[in-house]
Amino acid sequence: MTIPEGLLTALRDSQRVCVLTGSGVSAESGVPTFREAQTGLWEQYDPHELATPEAFERDPALVWRWYRWRRDIVAGVEPNPGHHALVRLASLVPALTIVTQNVDGLHQRAGSSNVIEFHGNLFEDRCFVEGCLVDDADMSVEVPVCPGCGGMLRPGVVWFGESIPESATHEAASAVSGCDLFFSIGTSALVWPAAGLADAARQQGASVVEINLDATPLSSHTSFRLQGKSGEVLPELVDCLAVK
Ligand code: OAD
Repeated sequence: MTIPEGLLTALRDSQRVCVLTGSGVSAESGVPTFREAQTGLWEQYDPHELATPEAFERDPALVWRWYRWRRDIVAGVEPNPGHHALVRLASLVPALTIVTQNVDGLHQRAGSSNVIEFHGNLFEDRCFVEGCLVDDADMSVEVPVCPGCGGMLRPGVVWFGESIPESATHEAASAVSGCDLFFSIGTSALVWPAAGLADAARQQGASVVEINLDATPLSSHTSFRLQGKSGEVLPELVDCLAVK
């Protein structure tokens, strides 16, 4: 793929880059996406049975089985060239923040430091009653409980019908409000409020870049659109940028 010269110039001139990532960025590591035909998690499983507070109250053991299965998948994979390229990109621009919808921690494992987890973290355990983070629970039981209050523990991800954590909302808004270049990478741009971040960035003057295998609702509102795998496009982009 030829990286547009205008994008390289925009990156060289940029003071603050904000990158929104979605499950497509982890796909090349072997982590399933959500909405892709046949392979997407929500094509095979019903989110209403697995990813809502009501589903958890109804059948916490089923929900925990599903999240343990997802934890096992992620524990067995490695960051891919797309994750690593974002680490390099951060070293080539004055400031870069990643807002990720991914709960797999792969950006951090690759070495990215400025990462806002918009939808929580798959490996965190939270008290379903009090909402606090718990790190010393007995996880050997089917439904772990909070050592403090005895309430059920839940995975620390954002479920349908729940709000984005306040700190993540504020940090993401601040990353977007100061950015001059916004990347939307490997996300279907369908899930709000994350999908609104690109619009917010554009409205305050940032150029929007999309990297995705397919077109999304965002595609026609971008300054640059790079169609392809993030694990191939991002390393190429960073290689071009690194050449003086
Ligand atoms: P989706 O499954 O909705 O979209 C994945 C996107 O990644 C699609 O647009 C694909 O075309 C693209 N894609 C797949 N492989 C790619 C690759 N190798 N390189 C580049 N692009 C690729 O996943 P998300 O947009 O992440 O929320 O979904 C957003 C949220 O919906 C998730 O965070 C999750 C889900 O419900 C919660 O769990 C709260």
